[in-house]
Amino acid sequence: MNRIFRRKSLDHLVGETTEPHQQLKRSLGPVHLTLLGVGAIIGAGIFSTIGSAAAGGADHLGAGPALVISFILVAVACSFAALCYAEFAAMVPVSGSAYTYAYATLGELIAWIIGWDLILEYAVGNVAVAISWSDYFQSLIEGFGIHWPLWLGTDLRSALQAAHQATAANAAGIDPSTLGDVVARGVGALAAAPKLLGVPVVFNLPAVLIVAVITWVLVRGIHESARFNSAMVLLKLAIIAFFVIAGACYVKPEHWTPFAPNGFAGVSSAAAIIFFAYIGFDAVSTAAEEARNPQRDMPIAIISSLVVCTIIYIVVALVLTGMVPWHQLSGVADPLAKAFMDRGLNWSAGIIAFGAVFATTSVLIVFQIGQPRILFSMARDGLLPPWAARVHPRFRTPHTMTILTGVFVAGFAAVTNINEVVELCNIGTLFAFVLVAVGVILLRRTEPDRARPFRTPLVPWIPLGAILSCGYLMAQLPWVTWLRFLIWLGVGLLFYFIYGFRHSRLNKSRGNGFQAKADENNEGNQPQMDADGR
Ligand code: ALA
Repeated sequence: MNRIFRRKSLDHLVGETTEPHQQLKRSLGPVHLTLLGVGAIIGAGIFSTIGSAAAGGADHLGAGPALVISFILVAVACSFAALCYAEFAAMVPVSGSAYTYAYATLGELIAWIIGWDLILEYAVGNVAVAISWSDYFQSLIEGFGIHWPLWLGTDLRSALQAAHQATAANAAGIDPSTLGDVVARGVGALAAAPKLLGVPVVFNLPAVLIVAVITWVLVRGIHESARFNSAMVLLKLAIIAFFVIAGACYVKPEHWTPFAPNGFAGVSSAAAIIFFAYIGFDAVSTAAEEARNPQRDMPIAIISSLVVCTIIYIVVALVLTGMVPWHQLSGVADPLAKAFMDRGLNWSAGIIAFGAVFATTSVLIVFQIGQPRILFSMARDGLLPPWAARVHPRFRTPHTMTILTGVFVAGFAAVTNINEVVELCNIGTLFAFVLVAVGVILLRRTEPDRARPFRTPLVPWIPLGAILSCGYLMAQLPWVTWLRFLIWLGVGLLFYFIYGFRHSRLNKSRGNGFQAKADENNEGNQPQMDADGR
């Protein structure tokens, strides 16, 4: 029992980051860090999942125009979690995010669970973002008269679900063409697909290609510089501003009534879905080692990126539900573009599609950088095999984990349905938020005197608020998502007891806990990344 709850000391963690060969360049100030957060946050959530949150889907109710209330509720839950992240990010300005905080506070087993769980946030989240990228990419080239083959632009699962829905609609005497674009595309894809041994070949090729390109770029070490990120963020904000200003001219207030067609049940189930749109403010914490003054700037960036995005989301939700009757957003993959297309404003829809392709690309990059970093930290701690911490001899990037992440994300993006993936990502991220909040409460008890440059206010109430509100959102997700989540955690635990438990560096330590240093020197092949920490 003692061994699975062994902890890494905070002093050691912070000490590791000051070793010359592992030191990153501290160049980011509060504005760049906030922009990094906004860059990670605004993406597939606001450009794609907002439609299914408003209109509902096969396994959840829609909020209708009350979607704006869902956005506010999720913002409250996220601000509790953000205040908890801010305490840790200022106190332990180390790049491993929640995994590292848990190793220092809750012990190795929980750290492993969080690290494993963060794969759901980063890699599985990126599967959804890649699918959304593909949807908007296809809308964009459609605007130029290029028709991407349907069977190479959707996934088999969605296509089969669409065929099933169309058959059921026919049987009930409903015209399947009223079921929305996604159903029409799925049915069209199946009809056009070539067959291999009797199985229709349907997969999402653009999603695979974008992930392949980003992986290639990241292996070579050309990573998102702060300036490049800022340009992407400004572009995203400009496109959103365009949507709001141009869209406001087409708002019909009668679309806002009835305001909450499915009552509070619709508002909460939509909240559990659009939570996806907020994921990313916590990714700011992975840049802690590149911050000039992390103690002051981490909390500022985490909280201000959340505030900026909340305001944007509320306005976008109001305009969208004012432009399009909420039920027409059912089964629409590119709702913001559709809002304009329905009015024959194809050029405006094209601008939105163009912006969405950029917005989702920048989210893909941030998470595709973050995931290998977390796995790399876990491998450095001995919880994953040493090959996972290998660094490319020339590019100084964690190429093995970057490629593995790329293959995982591209593979699933080819064959999965975006809504199912979003739900799995949400449950995993909400769980990580809960564990971070528990960590804040525990560390206040176990190390009350430790210097905390930022203190979460009203402890234990704010962390308890995070635990309850994130737990509530988890409870709104369908049982099948829970089942997938529990299976994922079960597989992770199996891995830990078969491998990590015995190979942990802390296991090799004798007595003082940081014999690990000596082990590092003995292993010779200790990984080192370049100054950018990739
Ligand atoms: N919040 C990110 C997005 O919506 C994950 O794309």
